[in-house]
Amino acid sequence: MTLSSSPSFAVVGATGAVGREMLDVLRAQGVAAETIRAFASPRSAGQRLPYGDDELPVEAFGADSLEGIDIALFSAGSSLSKQYAHAAAARGTIIIDNSSAFRMDADVPLIVPEINGDELAGGAPSRIIAVPNCSTIITLMAVTPIHRLLGVTRLVVSTYQAVSGAGAAAMEELRRQAREVLDGNEPTCRVFDQPCAFNVFSHNTAIIEDGSNVEETKMVRESHKIWRDPSVRISATCIRVPVFRAHCASINLTLREPVDDLDAVRRAIEAFPGVVLVDDRSANRFPTPLEASGRDEVLVGRLRLDPSQTDDQGRCRGLSLFAAGDQLRKGAALNAVQIANVLMSHAAV
Ligand code: A2P
Repeated sequence: MTLSSSPSFAVVGATGAVGREMLDVLRAQGVAAETIRAFASPRSAGQRLPYGDDELPVEAFGADSLEGIDIALFSAGSSLSKQYAHAAAARGTIIIDNSSAFRMDADVPLIVPEINGDELAGGAPSRIIAVPNCSTIITLMAVTPIHRLLGVTRLVVSTYQAVSGAGAAAMEELRRQAREVLDGNEPTCRVFDQPCAFNVFSHNTAIIEDGSNVEETKMVRESHKIWRDPSVRISATCIRVPVFRAHCASINLTLREPVDDLDAVRRAIEAFPGVVLVDDRSANRFPTPLEASGRDEVLVGRLRLDPSQTDDQGRCRGLSLFAAGDQLRKGAALNAVQIANVLMSHAAV
């Protein structure tokens, strides 16, 4: 698979919360406006999206839209991806898909470049590459340096998920409901079936037979695929919180090796690309969604031994930590563009 040195891009779902962020990341990387086409539903055709000093016209997406496009970043929902991605890939376009449509397909790489970008070395095995679920990306970015150092055998995670994961309309819903409540009115629900302003609720995906919601099952299955290790026991609880665009995760680990030196764990986190340690105990300063918003890095902190996992010899195999990461950037758009960069770097060799 080869790519031209300055590939042509399409963003499918360009008017959405993630799509706009994809354009922002491409612009920040110096991709010229002339090499990008912005697609959305026919409702948005004719709109113009700001792109640095330029503007991109929004085109209605259809079966022939990706003709001549080298790389298409899809973020318009899984049914649209399922409908169009395979045919476009067969015609030569590389699809980097932010939806859940293909993540668990055996022949589709599921990539967080800092963690398993090596799977794309020597060219991608498929023309469709999947971007993992946003909470999975943010959690694994925080935990992978520890996994590599001490071996995670069990991961228990509780998420605090921003409304941006449900799209631009959900962000608008939080804004509108906050105003309604502060004005003394009942919040009106359009995207979520319960109020998101001043409320916390179980993730809005369906509940399956065992009582998990689908978001929780994604975190388990996708983590196993990304780590290439289905033996790690994972338990997830996924919760929506009234935050605009950054997810948090409270994480408890069981480790193969005892933690003899917490500073070595700190150093491993600091050395990991795309992660920043925010762990100032004296100032009580730790990761927050506000600080993570708009940033590329995942913030990690509240790192501490878990004394409930200390054995009779006084060796502790448990760690607790807290992470915050921008759902729209590393959780989606940035990760997608990073995948494109990895592919281009291999194609250039
Ligand atoms: P549109 O704005 O025209 O509805 P979000 O995740 O923020 O809700 O964004 C979803 C994105 O997917 C939007 O850009 C939306 O465009 C786009 N989209 C939805 N349905 C289609 C479709 N049938 N064809 C192309 N784009 C679509």
